[in-house]
Amino acid sequence: MHACEKGATGVYWGHRAIAKVFYRDLIAQLDEMHGHEVEHYAIFGQLMKARGVRSVIAPVFWCVGGILYGIVTALAGRRAIWRSTAVIESIVTRELKVAADFFENRDSEIHQAILRILEEKAAHMAVGQNNSPGQHA
Ligand SMILES: [Fe+2]
Repeated sequence: MHACEKGATGVYWGHRAIAKVFYRDLIAQLDEMHGHEVEHYAIFGQLMKARGVRSVIAPVFWCVGGILYGIVTALAGRRAIWRSTAVIESIVTRELKVAADFFENRDSEIHQAILRILEEKAAHMAVGQNNSPGQHA
């Protein structure tokens, strides 16, 4: 999950970079979503640090992968930005729900953090879905 969040920061960074050139009306919204992903990455990092768990290996690798993906999808058009957002966030939401179930009776702090993050994921997914109607994963 920590690695996924780092990757997500990269994806939104890539989307924002292209939006700054071609879709300036999207910048504020993408900035806000990118900020959420930065927070999610920090939250998981803090939870892991407090438990003596090693951080994700080479976070820059995950971030660069996300940036490349974000740039490529954004170059395909504004609909592609929102479609990829809807699909990625739906996948991450599924993973986080599994994680929330796992931690529910094991670690209430992690469980609560995941539930909070899930709210923002749902909001991101809705924005992506509303801006690119259609089926997704
Ligand atoms: Fe996130």
